[in-house]
Parts: sequence; C-alpha cells; structure tokens
Amino acid sequence: MLVFFALDPLTPTRLMRTWSFSSAGTLVFGRQAVRHHLREACDRLGANRVFVVTDATLVKAGLLDQTLEPLVGSGVAYQTFDRITPEPGVERVRECIAAARAFNPDAIIGLGGGSNMDTAKLVALILAHGGDPLDYTGDCRVPGPVKPLICIPTTAGTGSEVSAAAVFTDTANHIKVSCLSPYLRPNFAIVDPLFTVSCPAKVTADSGIDALTHAIEAYCAVDNDRFPLPPGEKSVYQGKNPMASLMAAECITLVGRYLRRAVKDGTDLEARDGMALAATLGGLAFSNAGVALVHAMEYPVGGAVHISHGAGNGLLLPYIMRYNLPACTHALAQVTTLLGDADSSAKAHRESDEAQAERAIELVANLRVSIGIPARLRDIGVTKDLLPGFAAKAFSIKRLLRVNPRMPQSEDEILQIYDSAW
Ligand SMILES: NC(=O)c1ccc[n+]([C@@H]2O[C@H](COP(=O)([O-])OP(=O)(O)OC[C@H]3O[C@@H](n4cnc5c(N)ncnc54)[C@H](O)[C@@H]3O)[C@@H](O)[C@H]2O)c1
Ligand SMILES: [Fe+2]
Repeated sequence: MLVFFALDPLTPTRLMRTWSFSSAGTLVFGRQAVRHHLREACDRLGANRVFVVTDATLVKAGLLDQTLEPLVGSGVAYQTFDRITPEPGVERVRECIAAARAFNPDAIIGLGGGSNMDTAKLVALILAHGGDPLDYTGDCRVPGPVKPLICIPTTAGTGSEVSAAAVFTDTANHIKVSCLSPYLRPNFAIVDPLFTVSCPAKVTADSGIDALTHAIEAYCAVDNDRFPLPPGEKSVYQGKNPMASLMAAECITLVGRYLRRAVKDGTDLEARDGMALAATLGGLAFSNAGVALVHAMEYPVGGAVHISHGAGNGLLLPYIMRYNLPACTHALAQVTTLLGDADSSAKAHRESDEAQAERAIELVANLRVSIGIPARLRDIGVTKDLLPGFAAKAFSIKRLLRVNPRMPQSEDEILQIYDSAW
C-alpha cells in the first residue's frame, strides 16, 4: 500500500488530505498467466488444500480444467463448487460456504466473473470470521484478515480481482448489497486475457461497460481533499486521487479503443488483451477513489428486475453523467478526449469544456447503443410505480453518494434522474 501526502502547491500552508493506494497483494497479468503462475501463487500462500468457486458455464468452456492443470500432481488438493449463478442470492452464497467449510481449505480461488470472484471473497471471509455474509455488508465491517484468496477473472469488467468489494443479492429485500473492506482484496490476482475469449458478446458488452462506469465514476469523483467522510467513519473509498485518476484515464482510453472490437469479434485477441487490462485498471481506480451514483442507482434496479449489473450501469450512465455535468465539467470534457473522439483534439482549442463534456455523454450513449445495451428503464421491465422505491433505496446508500461529484440532496432528485431514464 502506498500512502501519500503533500502540500497543495497553490496554498502551501494547507496540508492536503492523505490518500493511499491499495491493490491485490500481487497482480500477474498476461496470456497464459494462470498456467505459469497459479502454482507459484499457491506455494507463496502455503496452500495445500484449495477450494475453487466457479460456475457450470466455465466448466463447459474448459476454463476450470485449464485452471486446475498446473495443480494436477503438484500435491495441492482441490475441490470445486461449480453452481454459482450470475449475481447470486445470499442463499447460494451460503450453500457455497457450507461446501467450503466441509472441505476445510487453506486457500480459496475465485474463477469467473464478478459473481464467482465475489462469492469466493465471501467464502474466505466467513471461513475466517464466522457468521453470515449479511452480517458484514457496508463499509469496513470485516474485523481482520480473511482466508488466503486468489482471483482469476474470466470477464473483463468488474475488477473484483483487485478490488475490496464483494457484491451479492439480498433476496429478501430485493437489493444488491456489498461488503467493502481492505481485507477483501485478493492476495493474488491472476489475469489471463485468454480466459475471456469464450465470453459471449452480451457478457463482453455488459462487463465492458461496467469497467467504463468504474473508470468514469472514479475519474469524476469528488476530490480526495474534499471527500466528505464524517468524523469517526471509515471507508475504503477516498475520492479522486492522482494514482486512481491515472488508472481510470487509461481504462477509459482502452475501452474507447477496444470494447466495440471485443464485442464484434470475441477472437480479436488484441481487443481481449486491451479490455482485460482496462477492467483491472478500472478496478484499481474505483476501489481506491470509489464508485458513486450510477452504482447506487443500479443496485435497486438489479435487485428488482432481471438485468445484469453491467447493463444496468450502462443504461443509467449517460443520465447520471448529465446530472453530474455542472459539478465535473472539466473532468467530463477530458473523458471525451480519452474516449478517442476523432474530433476532440481538433475541436478542443475552440470548444468550451461544457460542449466537450456534452460530447462525452453523447459518446457513451452511442457506445451503449452500438454494443446492444438498452437505453431506457421501461425497456427492461421496470414499471414507473417502482421508481420512488428505487429512489429511496439509492438515496440511502451514503457510502456511494458521497463519492459523487454532485451530492443528491433528496430522494426526489434521484427520482428525477430515474424518471429521465425511464
Ligand atoms: N467486487 C467488485 O469489485 C465488483 C465490481 C463490479 C461488479 N461486481 C459484481 O459482479 C457481478 C457481475 O460480474 P460479471 O459482469 O463479471 O458477470 P458474471 O460473473 O455475473 O457472469 C455473467 C455470465 O457470464 C458467464 N461467463 C463469465 N465468463 C465467461 C467466459 N469466459 N466464457 C463464457 N461465459 C462466461 C458466466 O458463466 C455467467 O453466466 C455483479 O454481481 C456485480 O454487482 C463486483
Ligand atoms: Fe460495477
């Protein structure tokens, strides 16, 4: 973990707020990374019994076999749970925890998209501290280190392999919930872009726009030195800081360059490399700076209707960029350039920040259409009467709202955004 504090160059007497930057313990990135580095990861963690959390689609795609190959004959015993469903309800997570407990592993491997990696994190948490996943939702409620954890993403989107979050569905209350804790960052993230090649176009599109949402929310977050964290409260998120912004910017550039290509042709390996890197960089950015209103507003939607987290975010993103525009005009103007808009450098010198920021919204909306993400809540089965309830839930997720450059003052303000997206 890097900790940084400095004098603000404009007002040298004022000490800027301290920021820090955290990641997975070790990040390995590249084609064949799992084959060449999983064994070493187990050795370094002293793992002799590993429990692998995955799903049936990945077993069928051959990714479980590829993952286990370096462990065969190595003396590392393993057991697999392959019944995770997308965005799992807490009941399925509990089932997985029970299976893991019976095996008594000394390390957990999350193999899959965010759904599987997050479940692996919850297994590592409960095996170390007991209780139930619902006991730990919210910010910084995990009391200490969890079981050693290795995450291997098979989608390019969530960044969970480096992040401090574990998301699941609180089925009784119809909402996605999240446990956020520095202890939930994996000890090892092994990112092999080849593991994403079998992703269908829809999964590529949905997870890819999730990565873009992470990066835009981190890039436009409230500044670290104005981050409104109430005294005595702890948060994994700290607002915009230079390291997170660097990574968010590169993520946005890579998504602009490669997401359409990866959706159009899943065997385009350059695009898969680019998107895998984008997702990990987006994860590094948001898991330090924070995600904000888009995520707060997606959680109730995803809990109520059948839409993936990424598609829900992609649907909402342009509407929230519009709401945020007055509070982060310059950052959004920069997003236009980062997205590689062909006109942007030519226009930059004569166009106002505001006009450029408007174009960022247009570019994201166009990208969304071109990769098949729905543009309206009514198109995904949301009825208008649900919106006030969504607004009340989103308004209550203060740990996300305070990262947003424009702080909604009431449920009604959020309701208006939902209305515009309906
Ligand atoms: N922990 C975090 O930091 C974080 C961040 C963002 C989102 N999330 C959460 O992650 C979840 C979404 O994760 P996701 O977008 O990665 O999708 P996912 O894990 O839900 O997977 C979606 C589908 O794609 C399939 N799939 C995944 N990889 C594949 C591959 N290589 N080939 C073929 N099929 C493949 C899966 O089997 C599944 O059916 C949500 O619950 C979301 O809230 C977590
Ligand atoms: Fe996300």
